[in-house]
Amino acid sequence: IRRRDFVVSFAMVARVPLFARLDAAAVARLIGLLTARRASAGDVIITEGEKADAMYFITTGRVEVILPSGPIYLTDGDFFGEMALVAEGQRRSATVIAARSCDLLVLGSRDFQHLAHTNAEIGEAVSEVARQRKGNHGAE
Ligand code: CMP
Repeated sequence: IRRRDFVVSFAMVARVPLFARLDAAAVARLIGLLTARRASAGDVIITEGEKADAMYFITTGRVEVILPSGPIYLTDGDFFGEMALVAEGQRRSATVIAARSCDLLVLGSRDFQHLAHTNAEIGEAVSEVARQRKGNHGAE
């Protein structure tokens, strides 16, 4: 991932459906926890088997999750890298590569745990997606 960070805006956070229910004050707090990163097509964002320190939200772009059964693509508003954070201590379950240039929001592991505890609805929504993905290692 390119280190060229840029400023996280309210509009970028609003593009993520997971955050849609947050009120303005909560979004303002969340902006303080998020880092923006740009990835170019072909950049490896997550490597299978590595330790996890963050999860990612796609504000614009498209990433490829490499699975034994074939790739799964995630796009605007989707998130990834949540599985290793939900199951604390778990390693990355798959490699994720930018399929084209992407604007990403990065949420560190500790900040994710904090968010999930203070906002149970978000915590449960992320856990549910992780559960579904864990049970779906076939083609989507
Ligand atoms: P994590 O295991 O932390 O790192 C790899 C990520 O790829 C994983 O979290 C998920 O976000 C994503 N991923 C893994 N399996 C699937 C799947 N079956 N469908 C969609 N995304 C997946």
